[in-house]
Amino acid sequence: MKLIRVRDYEDMSRKVANIIGAHIILKPTTVLGLATGTTPIGTYQRLIKGYEDGDLDFSQVRSYNLDEYRGLTHEDPQSYHYFMNDQLFNHVNIDPSNVHVPDGANPDADAACSEYDRMVEEAGYCDLQLLGIGRNGHIGFNEPDEVFSKGTHCVDLTQSTIEANARLFEREEDVPRQAYTMGTQTIMNARLIVMAVTGENKAQALHDMCYGPVTPQCPASILQLHPNVIVVADEAALSLCK
Ligand code: GLP
Repeated sequence: MKLIRVRDYEDMSRKVANIIGAHIILKPTTVLGLATGTTPIGTYQRLIKGYEDGDLDFSQVRSYNLDEYRGLTHEDPQSYHYFMNDQLFNHVNIDPSNVHVPDGANPDADAACSEYDRMVEEAGYCDLQLLGIGRNGHIGFNEPDEVFSKGTHCVDLTQSTIEANARLFEREEDVPRQAYTMGTQTIMNARLIVMAVTGENKAQALHDMCYGPVTPQCPASILQLHPNVIVVADEAALSLCK
């Protein structure tokens, strides 16, 4: 793992956007794996600026998002698809037909997940996968478990994730209890993984990811086995990594 230490959220956002931007410049047909959450918002703002300044061209980029809440349509303002449109896709020249998010509106979980796997596989998996980390070490919505997941699957969200994500909903009861998520194997198939982490509340997860045992109890720990991971983290997140 390569570690890039940053000062704060702004610094992290700039550096991660520069890494993604450089990748798109070097390979205009980049297949991006993208994440939701608060962590990548600043990165997406910088990518939009890169497009507006004429430095970045998304016309041939394809994107595959990590996950989606089960039961939400892509027009639902709480869906991850809506979030991605709002935070990035509506503001750059990506072709909407090149944007992919698991279909949360499909109640048939097996069909929705296998269709998503087929699409990611057909794209040859991601050149660059952007990741955030949950406080319990989850990546995408791969929650702590007895085994590492493989392909896209339907998960029951843990109480800690429901509580953490409740801030984005009016009431905790509104947070969907299930999601479709890319599996850890699919995430590991990406050629380059960029993990962005800031804040003290992620310090334990970041420590366990880097220095703990490789175990599905901390899904992000599998990244120790990936040959090409860049962790971009601030001092607060690194506070337990002495
Ligand atoms: C959610 C998403 C993850 C994200 C995590 C951390 O559960 N499914 O992909 O990495 O939350 O979110 P945040 O960046 O808001 O801390």
